[in-house]
Amino acid sequence: MSNQALTPRFPKMLHGGDYNPDQWLDCPEILEEDIRLMKKAHCNCMSLAIFAWATLEPEEGVYRFEWLDSIINRLYENGIYTILATPSGARPQWMAQKYPEVLRVTQDRHRNLFGQRHNHCLTSPVYREKVRQINTKLAERYAGNPAVILWHISNEYSGECHCELCQAAFREYLKEKYKTLDALNHAWWTHFWSHTYTDWSQIQSPSARGETLVHGLNLDWKRFTTLQTADFIHNEVQAVKSVNPEIPTTINMMMYFDGLDYHVIKNEVDVISWDAYPLWHSPGDETLVAAEFAMYHDLMRSLKHKPFLLMESCPSATNWQPVSKLKRPGMHLLSSLQAVAHGSDSVQYFQWRKGRGSSEKFHGSVLDHYGKSDTRVFRDVTQVGKALEKLQCLYDSNVQAQAAVIFDVENAWAVADSQGPRNCGIKYRETVLDHYRALWEQGVSTDVIDMTCDLTPYRLVIAPMTYLLRDGFAKRVREFVENGGTFVSTYWSGIVNSTDLCYLGGMPGDGLMEVLGLRSEEIDSLYDGEHNTIQAAAGMAENGLAQSYQASELCDLIHCSTAQPLYTYGEDFYAGRPAVTVNSFGAGKAYYIASRNEHAFQRDFFEQLVKEAGIVPNLPAPLPHGVTVGRRIGDREYLFIQNFVGEPRTLTLPGTYEELLSGDILSGEVTLTPYDIRVLVKQ
Ligand code: GLA
Ligand code: ZN
Repeated sequence: MSNQALTPRFPKMLHGGDYNPDQWLDCPEILEEDIRLMKKAHCNCMSLAIFAWATLEPEEGVYRFEWLDSIINRLYENGIYTILATPSGARPQWMAQKYPEVLRVTQDRHRNLFGQRHNHCLTSPVYREKVRQINTKLAERYAGNPAVILWHISNEYSGECHCELCQAAFREYLKEKYKTLDALNHAWWTHFWSHTYTDWSQIQSPSARGETLVHGLNLDWKRFTTLQTADFIHNEVQAVKSVNPEIPTTINMMMYFDGLDYHVIKNEVDVISWDAYPLWHSPGDETLVAAEFAMYHDLMRSLKHKPFLLMESCPSATNWQPVSKLKRPGMHLLSSLQAVAHGSDSVQYFQWRKGRGSSEKFHGSVLDHYGKSDTRVFRDVTQVGKALEKLQCLYDSNVQAQAAVIFDVENAWAVADSQGPRNCGIKYRETVLDHYRALWEQGVSTDVIDMTCDLTPYRLVIAPMTYLLRDGFAKRVREFVENGGTFVSTYWSGIVNSTDLCYLGGMPGDGLMEVLGLRSEEIDSLYDGEHNTIQAAAGMAENGLAQSYQASELCDLIHCSTAQPLYTYGEDFYAGRPAVTVNSFGAGKAYYIASRNEHAFQRDFFEQLVKEAGIVPNLPAPLPHGVTVGRRIGDREYLFIQNFVGEPRTLTLPGTYEELLSGDILSGEVTLTPYDIRVLVKQ
């Protein structure tokens, strides 16, 4: 086993989920039945005690572990391993009553009452000490138990606290960063509206009752919240590692979540894991959902460039979406193995057994209130368990990508905060997805990285809307292109520096004008429903691109210095001006897409760029709409052919392959049923 193994004590593909027996302690027959059914469903791993603090420490300093001993050991006797949680995601009533400072203060400066979860102060010394104590007790009792394979630190960290303790810590962070108030006032441009700070104590976190319009302050507050969360995690991890450093740690990260910068947080834990809840079968093109979750899986894998764990997913329908739609036949296996195709070494669920009361009683689980195994969901889950056993051979194999798309959370914060150019919808995440999707449709493995990451492993780097340039990014782009890389930038890039100050002397700033061979003069924002077109310069049609594509929403008006126009605008007063350009720079090329174009443009354009950059798609064969191919590379190459549409799809295999789930030998024309997935190894 390589040193990459995520869970060295049990180096296997994991299958199981969140298990909350603390809600069922008065029903011993249910707990025994759970074990029988877990084995029947081919589960080998459960996440325990995530929200069990009140059961573990019913009174301050009084600990009750016997119930957990018995469950961990009973599971282990039956071949089921434990991912053990620290319980800081929700605290007991007694603690909030005795120490109100553990409760979070909202941006309007009100302290929350006890309730819900994920709502503690990030700074409170009392809370940190209570967490350290319970974590240490858990580690002392269980870190030597061979059943425990991973620490699940807390649950889905999120949110911010505006209490006085947090404000004081924020000011310390700023003093350390800026050293002088003059430097801070300049970086935040506070002479605007006479908001100049003359004393550190005047600095307050952003609030709807106070300051919200100083963008540099907003950015630094979010950075501070990330660092304070990282520090909180650090304390949690230290407590368990000081007892036994060998058990790895993880936190379960979230989809659509930009409250924290995971590129900072990732350093606090050994293993990346995340909770994926796709809205399958929602109206419109279903492949968009598939591409979106492919992108998130890739983002999670790219954090450490290692396999990751799918820590939560729903075996059926969730209960928090606007419409709780059931998965169509095939979708459970497809959705689960999509994660594996992108680098997951697990399929875990929320949750094993549905609770009887409170807000998640209708959230899909492996076991329904009915409590038996003769259900569609149970059969689907069992099918995934059996499939993972067959795929053990790809445990610890990785995805190797020659293309990367940049999705940067600090940039997301800044883009969302900026006033103009399109307050009715600037769509950063959607734009990144639209570019990513063009590679996904071709079956090209892609890393999803941020602006702080190394660009040298890639042949092609696509950087949509890099409005805020992180320190050092432009320099790395320059070197990347000089050394032969293909770089793609778009409209609304290189506008501000890392404290949200606009570049002077022309944009895209920080030297990118030279790399791209152009200057952006102004940007036109279009109303919904308004369009322009882009028209091909000579030679584009021979490359498989269309003569014309539709542009909408944002059209950047640029001047080329050394760049060559590939498309020009078709309409309006800027008809004839460059809309897509290429600049040869050093040994590489830098492209610029000036307008927000329909997806067909991305699809055709990136097909060409992939070829030009010398990247070979995972399956060198034409893929019908809705079908994509993922690849993991270990001792052999594993191809995942996935059909995300509710119709059959046919493709032609360029060789002979063994299909690992069925054992069939396949070659030539293969027809995939609706929501089908095949895992192939070349013969
Ligand atoms: C999150 C949480 C779980 C559960 C699920 C429901 O991912 O971590 O505890 O609430 O959502 O979808
Ligand atoms: Zn606080």
